[in-house]
Amino acid sequence: MENIVKHPILEIIDKKKIDFTFDGKILTGFEGMVISSALFLNRIKIFGHHIKDRSPQGLFCANGQCSQCNVIADGIPVKACMTPLTKGMTIQSCNGLPELPIEDNPVEVKDINVLNTEVLVIGGGPAGLSATKVLGENNIDVILVDDKSSLGGKLVLQTHKFFGSQEDVYAGTRGIEIGEILGNIVSNLKSVKIWINSIVLAVFSDGLVGVIKDGDQYVLIKPNYLLIATGAREKMLVFPGNTLPGVYGAGAFQTLVNRDLVKAAENVFIVGGGNVGLIAGYHAIQAGINVVGLVEALSQCGGYKVHEDKLKRLGVPIYTSHTVISANGEEQLESITIGKLTDSWDIEPGTEKTYACDTLLIAVGLDSVDEFYHKAQRFNMKVWIAGDAQEIAEASAAIFTGKIEALKILKEIGVSISENIGDLEDFANLMKAKPPDPIQRELTDKEEGIFPLFHCNQEIPCNPCTNVCPQQQIKTVDDLITQLPYFTDDQDCIGCGKCVAVCPGLAITLVDYRKDKESPVVTFPLELTSEKIEVGKKVIVVSNDGELGEFEVTRARFLKEFPKTQLISVKLPSEIAKVAVGIKLTRSSYTEPMDLYQQSYTDDEIIVCRCERVSVGEIRKWIRYGVHDFNELKALTKAGMGSFGGKTCTTLINRIFLEEGVKQENIISGTKRPLFVEVPMGIFAGVKTKKGGK
Ligand code: FES
Repeated sequence: MENIVKHPILEIIDKKKIDFTFDGKILTGFEGMVISSALFLNRIKIFGHHIKDRSPQGLFCANGQCSQCNVIADGIPVKACMTPLTKGMTIQSCNGLPELPIEDNPVEVKDINVLNTEVLVIGGGPAGLSATKVLGENNIDVILVDDKSSLGGKLVLQTHKFFGSQEDVYAGTRGIEIGEILGNIVSNLKSVKIWINSIVLAVFSDGLVGVIKDGDQYVLIKPNYLLIATGAREKMLVFPGNTLPGVYGAGAFQTLVNRDLVKAAENVFIVGGGNVGLIAGYHAIQAGINVVGLVEALSQCGGYKVHEDKLKRLGVPIYTSHTVISANGEEQLESITIGKLTDSWDIEPGTEKTYACDTLLIAVGLDSVDEFYHKAQRFNMKVWIAGDAQEIAEASAAIFTGKIEALKILKEIGVSISENIGDLEDFANLMKAKPPDPIQRELTDKEEGIFPLFHCNQEIPCNPCTNVCPQQQIKTVDDLITQLPYFTDDQDCIGCGKCVAVCPGLAITLVDYRKDKESPVVTFPLELTSEKIEVGKKVIVVSNDGELGEFEVTRARFLKEFPKTQLISVKLPSEIAKVAVGIKLTRSSYTEPMDLYQQSYTDDEIIVCRCERVSVGEIRKWIRYGVHDFNELKALTKAGMGSFGGKTCTTLINRIFLEEGVKQENIISGTKRPLFVEVPMGIFAGVKTKKGGK
């Protein structure tokens, strides 16, 4: 593994190299990087071993929630994914339970500050930022709390251009840029205080919210209004080998690759054909990582068709109606075995195939992080919820729901608002809707002049191409954002290429018949290299069904407004000009399956609770004994008792209940822990601890 030194979208900023040790070995990382990324940079994925069964442990959430990444840094147990590397740091793998340093000095107890604020916004991602913008622009006192070192939440991982509308959610602009735009706006609002590196610990019954400010100072906040914009966490799947280092969420992968610029893998496989999995695959390719394949259990991918097409054009095999059977490897992932699903969701015998890969990305959906909302509701606080915490959808929808919930708070405060919230909610529902089935689109007969061709064939909310055309010649059917775009042809297209460059789906080409009807010039968007393509270079032109051949580039340019999307023009025979949708720079390398690596596993070998290493077999056994109460299951097995606090395994255990024929209404939910993450005890007494310590 290595650091990414060239990227088509991300700026590579020179960072200072620093030395550190891991288990006595001198290694090099970069200043400001978190420990887990520095270890990945040095090809280290195994951070320790579990006390129960000595199983290897490594990165999982990359988000500070699971503690799978625990290491000992300068004598203190820390989460590697949340702790910045420092020069000369001594890091040891965490084998078994970490020991705390002896600390028996008397503690000086201090009062904890209670701060009042009109609105407390928890979460500085798309929804929280957009809500804070609305509130701050109305001079409302806001404290915005976020646990990361910079604002933006998941936006800082999203190198692709956003869907939606330009005026409402910055469509056509990349997520990372939207994060910066919103972050700058809220940072300059006088009534807004921003607390980054600060984590909300709990919402208490007296209406106070406990926050660890800047990593080591415990503060209580008394908000008049509370907005929860805490986003989502990734769902997991139960299969043999699911906890091997190298198996982790697509979001964690994007953190390593897009935030920390670590080439975190050589060969990845992806489980899940929703937008998260499809986008992660494209991000991997942009970072120079081979995508071996993607499996989707349903008969078609659930994500946007344009995202799926982008991967297919680059030769990534997409196995629909397939699932992962096992992740294989001793200490870390070496291969995965997939199989075809029958109509009754069993593996069709004989369809198993094993592929070598070092990373398996799980992208099987997200769960809302809504615990604070439910607590606050229970304690009768005035609370609102936005973004993925409210309902899982695209980040553009989160920007919009953040705005809506902020307007509701303004209304409650007594500020008059001009917007009609009902209308805004209707639009939000459009943005949150699941993508419909693609439709068949007729190719135009036109073979003269110059005009854009639209290769999107799914009615999703997206219209930046309609705003960007200087001739105003691109419209959507009935001017509806969810309808497909078309070229009106009322006035000449001037061939500016802006529609090609702005399209988030990379699904518009420009066809120019003006000079040669037999060999029109077709212009494509390219986001796979930061280097300008030379005229005369041969590129591979593709349709959605495969490669069409190699052709010479006649022109390459960047438009000022879209500096990361290169427009590449190629002369093509007229018979393929209209079906050509993209170009690639190298031939796809298909990974052949290995000799079948298939062994049978029992339920006792498949882990459902990763913190306490509780197997599916153990849970099933107690359910069959008649245990339907999560608290009882927890007492019997420890499932849900670990540092992840049941946040991942609860959904998985619910599925086992279902398999065992226990209805949802007969399951007794577990008691939710009051604290969201582990903290040093002294913090409640006002004792400052070494940052990151426990
Ligand atoms: S991987 Fe670090 S806390 Fe989950």
